[in-house]
Amino acid sequence: MPEPVGHYFDAEPQGPSRATTIRLDLPDRSLTLTTDRGVFSASRVDAGTKYLLLEAPAPPTTGTFVDLGCGYGPIACTLALRSPAAKVWAVDVNARALDLCRANAAANKATNVHTALAGEVPPEITVDLLWSNPPIRIGKPALHVMLRTWLARLTPTGSAVVVVQKHLGADSLHRWLETEGFGAARLGSRTGYRLLQVTRG
Ligand SMILES: C[S@@+](CC[C@H](N)C(=O)[O-])C[C@H]1O[C@@H](n2cnc3c(N)ncnc32)[C@H](O)[C@@H]1O
Repeated sequence: MPEPVGHYFDAEPQGPSRATTIRLDLPDRSLTLTTDRGVFSASRVDAGTKYLLLEAPAPPTTGTFVDLGCGYGPIACTLALRSPAAKVWAVDVNARALDLCRANAAANKATNVHTALAGEVPPEITVDLLWSNPPIRIGKPALHVMLRTWLARLTPTGSAVVVVQKHLGADSLHRWLETEGFGAARLGSRTGYRLLQVTRG
Protein backbone atom coordinates (compact mmCIF):
# COMPACT_ATOMS: atom_id res chain seq x y z
CA MET A 1 0.00 0.00 0.00
CA PRO A 2 1.47 3.45 -0.85
CA GLU A 3 2.51 5.51 2.15
CA PRO A 4 0.74 8.79 2.80
CA VAL A 5 2.43 11.86 1.33
CA GLY A 6 3.08 14.60 3.84
CA HIS A 7 4.94 17.85 4.36
CA TYR A 8 7.67 18.61 6.87
CA PHE A 9 5.42 21.31 8.31
CA ASP A 10 2.45 19.01 9.01
CA ALA A 11 1.33 19.12 12.63
CA GLU A 12 1.33 15.32 12.95
CA PRO A 13 3.41 13.52 10.29
CA GLN A 14 1.45 10.55 8.97
CA GLY A 15 4.22 8.24 7.81
CA PRO A 16 5.64 5.62 10.16
CA SER A 17 8.62 6.61 12.26
CA ARG A 18 12.09 5.57 11.08
CA ALA A 19 14.55 7.26 13.38
CA THR A 20 18.13 7.73 12.28
CA THR A 21 21.23 9.42 13.66
CA ILE A 22 23.22 12.14 11.90
CA ARG A 23 26.23 14.33 12.76
CA LEU A 24 26.48 18.07 12.87
CA ASP A 25 30.17 19.02 12.72
CA LEU A 26 31.04 22.65 13.36
CA PRO A 27 34.40 24.28 14.14
CA ASP A 28 33.42 24.78 17.79
CA ARG A 29 31.55 21.51 18.48
CA SER A 30 30.12 18.32 17.04
CA LEU A 31 26.63 17.09 17.83
CA THR A 32 24.91 13.78 17.25
CA LEU A 33 21.26 14.34 16.38
CA THR A 34 18.37 11.94 15.94
CA THR A 35 16.08 12.67 12.99
CA ASP A 36 13.08 10.90 11.54
CA ARG A 37 10.81 10.76 8.57
CA GLY A 38 8.27 13.55 8.39
CA VAL A 39 10.68 16.26 9.52
CA PHE A 40 12.75 18.71 7.45
CA SER A 41 16.08 17.45 6.08
CA ALA A 42 16.03 14.17 7.98
CA SER A 43 18.97 12.55 6.23
CA ARG A 44 21.56 15.30 6.79
CA VAL A 45 21.84 18.76 8.28
CA ASP A 46 20.48 21.13 5.65
CA ALA A 47 23.13 23.15 3.79
CA GLY A 48 21.36 26.42 4.62
CA THR A 49 21.22 25.54 8.31
CA LYS A 50 24.92 24.69 8.29
CA TYR A 51 25.69 28.00 6.55
CA LEU A 52 23.78 29.92 9.23
CA LEU A 53 25.56 28.03 12.02
CA LEU A 54 28.96 28.69 10.43
CA GLU A 55 28.47 32.37 9.54
CA ALA A 56 26.02 33.98 12.00
CA PRO A 57 27.68 36.36 14.47
CA ALA A 58 28.39 34.86 17.88
CA PRO A 59 25.26 35.05 20.05
CA PRO A 60 25.20 37.15 23.23
CA THR A 61 25.99 35.24 26.41
CA THR A 62 22.51 35.72 27.91
CA GLY A 63 18.99 36.63 26.87
CA THR A 64 15.87 35.12 25.38
CA PHE A 65 16.54 33.41 22.07
CA VAL A 66 14.21 31.75 19.57
CA ASP A 67 14.86 29.11 16.92
CA LEU A 68 11.81 29.72 14.75
CA GLY A 69 10.90 26.46 13.02
CA CYS A 70 13.33 24.31 14.99
CA GLY A 71 12.76 20.97 13.26
CA TYR A 72 14.82 18.32 15.05
CA GLY A 73 16.88 21.10 16.63
CA PRO A 74 20.28 21.66 14.97
CA ILE A 75 19.97 25.44 15.41
CA ALA A 76 18.36 25.43 18.87
CA CYS A 77 20.89 22.95 20.28
CA THR A 78 23.88 24.85 18.83
CA LEU A 79 22.59 28.20 20.10
CA ALA A 80 21.94 26.74 23.56
CA LEU A 81 25.40 25.20 23.79
CA ARG A 82 27.11 28.39 22.56
CA SER A 83 25.19 30.48 25.13
CA PRO A 84 24.43 28.20 28.09
CA ALA A 85 23.13 31.10 30.22
CA ALA A 86 20.50 32.07 27.62
CA LYS A 87 16.97 30.70 27.41
CA VAL A 88 16.36 29.20 23.96
CA TRP A 89 12.80 28.67 22.79
CA ALA A 90 12.67 26.00 20.09
CA VAL A 91 9.41 26.54 18.25
CA ASP A 92 7.68 24.47 15.61
CA VAL A 93 4.25 23.30 14.47
CA ASN A 94 5.34 19.69 13.82
CA ALA A 95 4.89 17.54 16.94
CA ARG A 96 7.40 14.90 15.77
CA ALA A 97 10.02 17.59 15.17
CA LEU A 98 9.47 19.03 18.65
CA ASP A 99 9.83 15.57 20.25
CA LEU A 100 13.10 15.06 18.38
CA CYS A 101 14.37 18.52 19.30
CA ARG A 102 13.59 17.86 22.98
CA ALA A 103 15.41 14.51 22.86
CA ASN A 104 18.37 16.01 20.97
CA ALA A 105 18.71 18.84 23.47
CA ALA A 106 18.76 16.30 26.32
CA ALA A 107 21.23 13.99 24.53
CA ASN A 108 23.58 16.91 23.85
CA LYS A 109 23.18 18.38 27.37
CA ALA A 110 21.63 21.59 26.05
CA THR A 111 19.57 22.04 29.20
CA ASN A 112 18.50 25.59 28.30
CA VAL A 113 16.37 24.55 25.29
CA HIS A 114 12.60 24.88 25.83
CA THR A 115 10.51 23.29 23.09
CA ALA A 116 7.04 24.62 22.35
CA LEU A 117 4.36 24.62 19.73
CA ALA A 118 4.37 28.04 18.06
CA GLY A 119 1.10 29.02 19.74
CA GLU A 120 2.26 27.94 23.21
CA VAL A 121 4.98 30.55 23.68
CA PRO A 122 3.69 33.35 25.92
CA PRO A 123 2.87 36.24 23.54
CA GLU A 124 4.38 38.79 25.94
CA ILE A 125 7.94 37.43 25.71
CA THR A 126 10.49 39.66 24.05
CA VAL A 127 13.29 38.20 21.99
CA ASP A 128 16.94 39.21 22.02
CA LEU A 129 18.02 36.87 19.26
CA LEU A 130 16.10 34.85 16.69
CA TRP A 131 17.74 32.39 14.32
CA SER A 132 15.73 30.68 11.64
CA ASN A 133 15.84 28.56 8.54
CA PRO A 134 12.21 29.47 7.87
CA PRO A 135 9.58 27.26 6.22
CA ILE A 136 9.45 28.99 2.82
CA ARG A 137 7.30 26.17 1.42
CA ILE A 138 4.30 27.07 3.61
CA GLY A 139 3.69 29.88 1.08
CA LYS A 140 4.14 33.62 1.23
CA PRO A 141 0.97 34.59 3.14
CA ALA A 142 1.61 32.14 6.01
CA LEU A 143 5.34 32.91 6.01
CA HIS A 144 4.67 36.63 6.25
CA VAL A 145 2.21 36.18 9.14
CA MET A 146 4.78 34.02 10.97
CA LEU A 147 7.64 36.46 10.45
CA ARG A 148 5.58 39.54 11.34
CA THR A 149 4.47 37.85 14.57
CA TRP A 150 7.94 36.84 15.71
CA LEU A 151 10.02 39.76 14.44
CA ALA A 152 7.65 42.13 16.25
CA ARG A 153 8.83 40.46 19.48
CA LEU A 154 12.46 41.52 18.96
CA THR A 155 13.74 43.88 21.63
CA PRO A 156 14.94 47.31 20.39
CA THR A 157 18.52 45.97 20.40
CA GLY A 158 17.55 42.46 19.34
CA SER A 159 18.21 40.90 15.97
CA ALA A 160 17.35 37.95 13.82
CA VAL A 161 19.48 35.92 11.45
CA VAL A 162 17.57 34.15 8.71
CA VAL A 163 18.88 31.88 5.96
CA VAL A 164 16.93 31.59 2.70
CA GLN A 165 17.68 29.91 -0.60
CA LYS A 166 18.13 32.38 -3.43
CA HIS A 167 15.86 30.41 -5.76
CA LEU A 168 13.16 30.26 -3.08
CA GLY A 169 12.83 34.03 -2.99
CA ALA A 170 15.55 35.30 -0.64
CA ASP A 171 15.77 38.67 -2.38
CA SER A 172 12.02 39.22 -2.51
CA LEU A 173 11.83 38.32 1.19
CA HIS A 174 14.59 40.88 1.86
CA ARG A 175 12.56 43.55 0.04
CA TRP A 176 9.36 42.54 1.86
CA LEU A 177 11.11 42.88 5.25
CA GLU A 178 12.15 46.43 4.33
CA THR A 179 8.68 47.38 3.13
CA GLU A 180 7.33 46.10 6.47
CA GLY A 181 9.66 48.56 8.22
CA PHE A 182 12.20 46.07 9.54
CA GLY A 183 15.90 46.70 9.19
CA ALA A 184 17.30 44.07 6.83
CA ALA A 185 20.90 43.60 5.75
CA ARG A 186 22.64 40.88 3.81
CA LEU A 187 25.22 39.28 6.07
CA GLY A 188 26.43 36.88 3.44
CA SER A 189 25.70 35.04 0.22
CA ARG A 190 27.03 31.60 -0.63
CA THR A 191 26.22 28.34 -2.37
CA GLY A 192 22.70 29.34 -3.31
CA TYR A 193 21.81 30.92 0.04
CA ARG A 194 21.44 34.39 1.47
CA LEU A 195 22.01 35.11 5.13
CA LEU A 196 19.92 38.07 6.30
CA GLN A 197 20.13 40.02 9.53
CA VAL A 198 16.89 41.62 10.62
CA THR A 199 16.18 44.22 13.27
CA ARG A 200 13.09 46.08 14.43
CA GLY A 201 14.10 48.93 12.12
C1 LIG B 1 13.13 24.77 6.76
S1 LIG B 1 12.61 23.88 8.20
C2 LIG B 1 14.02 24.15 9.30
C3 LIG B 1 14.09 23.12 10.42
C4 LIG B 1 15.35 23.20 11.29
N1 LIG B 1 15.48 24.51 11.91
C5 LIG B 1 16.58 22.86 10.50
O1 LIG B 1 17.37 23.79 10.28
O2 LIG B 1 16.77 21.70 10.12
C6 LIG B 1 11.35 24.96 8.84
C7 LIG B 1 10.58 24.45 10.03
O3 LIG B 1 9.54 25.41 10.32
C8 LIG B 1 8.42 24.70 10.81
N2 LIG B 1 7.22 25.55 10.71
C9 LIG B 1 6.29 25.60 9.72
N3 LIG B 1 5.35 26.52 10.00
C10 LIG B 1 5.70 27.08 11.18
C11 LIG B 1 5.13 28.10 12.01
N4 LIG B 1 4.02 28.73 11.65
N5 LIG B 1 5.72 28.40 13.16
C12 LIG B 1 6.87 27.77 13.53
N6 LIG B 1 7.46 26.81 12.80
C13 LIG B 1 6.89 26.47 11.63
C14 LIG B 1 8.39 23.43 9.97
O4 LIG B 1 7.62 22.43 10.57
C15 LIG B 1 9.88 23.10 9.87
O5 LIG B 1 10.30 22.24 10.90
